[in-house]
Amino acid sequence: MSQAKPAAAPKRKTATLTESSGNKSLEMPVMDGTIGPSVIDIRKLYAETGYFTYDPGFTSTGSCESKITYIDGDEGVLLHRGYAIEELAEHSDFMEVAYLLLNGELPTLEEKKKFEHSITYHTMVHEQLSTFYRGFRRDAHPMAVMCGVVGALSAFYHDSLDINDPHQRMIASFRLIAKMPTIAAMAYKYSMGQPFMYPKNKLSYAENFLRMTFGVPAEEYEINPVLAKAMDRIFILHADHEQNASTSTVRLAGSSGANPFACIAAGIASLWGPAHGGANEAVLSMLRQIGDKKNIPEYVKRSKDKNDTFRLMGFGHRVYKNYDPRAQVMRKTCHEVLGELGVRHEPLLDLAMELERIALEDEYFVSKKLYPNVDFYSGIILRAMGFPTSMFTVLFAIARTVGWIAQWREMIEDPSQKIGRPRQLYTGYTRRPYKPVQQRG
Ligand code: CMC
Repeated sequence: MSQAKPAAAPKRKTATLTESSGNKSLEMPVMDGTIGPSVIDIRKLYAETGYFTYDPGFTSTGSCESKITYIDGDEGVLLHRGYAIEELAEHSDFMEVAYLLLNGELPTLEEKKKFEHSITYHTMVHEQLSTFYRGFRRDAHPMAVMCGVVGALSAFYHDSLDINDPHQRMIASFRLIAKMPTIAAMAYKYSMGQPFMYPKNKLSYAENFLRMTFGVPAEEYEINPVLAKAMDRIFILHADHEQNASTSTVRLAGSSGANPFACIAAGIASLWGPAHGGANEAVLSMLRQIGDKKNIPEYVKRSKDKNDTFRLMGFGHRVYKNYDPRAQVMRKTCHEVLGELGVRHEPLLDLAMELERIALEDEYFVSKKLYPNVDFYSGIILRAMGFPTSMFTVLFAIARTVGWIAQWREMIEDPSQKIGRPRQLYTGYTRRPYKPVQQRG
């Protein structure tokens, strides 16, 4: 009886690196993802050749394997667990997206209710935390307060610090997602000299945040459904974005075994920078600086000058070299919100729209594929909703906490995870003898 021949194993793809002298050569496996560029596995490079790779800014380096978010920057595609951001923004809500990012699947109705309940159950913060705020100056930037208060959560919730216990990891995740809007609203209230508002658990995540921010105990807060929907959509659009600076910071901090509250505080610190989450705040400052439509050409010219540090904030992206799909949704939301609030002819918005038009036609911006990014529009919407500019990045941090946690948990659960430890190209002094102070100079 003839036996069926086993199918030939598919040929393993490899890449070979050879030194120009020809003395050293290494064949390295090529790893394929489900979509997107393949990667060359260089893990044995140093051990077998004595070389490191050099990639400042990690423009060609994959730091981990992930199943959470996929971006195709050339095509303007953003998928969470396989679902397109445009569809999620249109049909889903933030709690559902949070569940999806954390668990890998969209929830059933029952799973969704249970998840929402778990988040709701943790929205209050330890009462003693409210006294912690008094240590900050009233005029402190709310992101400075966020870095401090979120880091301090590890001093309040000792029963969810053991990263090796899956239950504690889950409780810490719920706590962070649930408490972030409460902590952010408290930062705002503190800066305004108004009393803190306790969460109201019958409200949705976005509604609750708006009420804790803009409500006062003396009056009933009326939820505007258009604004609540816009807030929820802003949260969805910022929920995760693959291995960006703050997410990589969270993963790197967490790789040493640090507790989740400390890791998320590290992420908040990284997000604060104007090249990352601080860009929406920077967009508003830039619009104010430009001041008038007639000044746009001068500022566009300055942004192209290599000797000038001025850049058009809200334009360009490390990954998207096509329209940022989040920016398209945000642009639509922007018009909905401004329509609802009756601010169709807001001078800064007019200025922004004119800047967008000019930059999209300018040869420099077109050839470098510098499109408006999500922050270009979010700043305008948030301003119209009544948020001070200093709160813009805080809102980004609320939303991104979900992504940070999903990525942190994926890392902790990955058996190949190691402490992150990049190498360097050293160009400083070689060894030299110490000179006593009298012999120097
Ligand atoms: N205005 C003027 N020129 C720009 C801009 C800009 N906003 N962005 C990039 N360029 C130029 C840059 O000078 C460079 O020119 P050249 O090739 O002649 O040297 C070229 O475009 C490529 O830029 P890059 O700096 O190499 O690109 P990058 O990937 O390192 O930087 C970026 C990406 C987002 C930091 C940058 O585009 C930027 O600073 N934009 C303004 C800040 C901003 O809006 N950030 C929010 C990013 S979206 C939110 C998020 O995901 O965090």
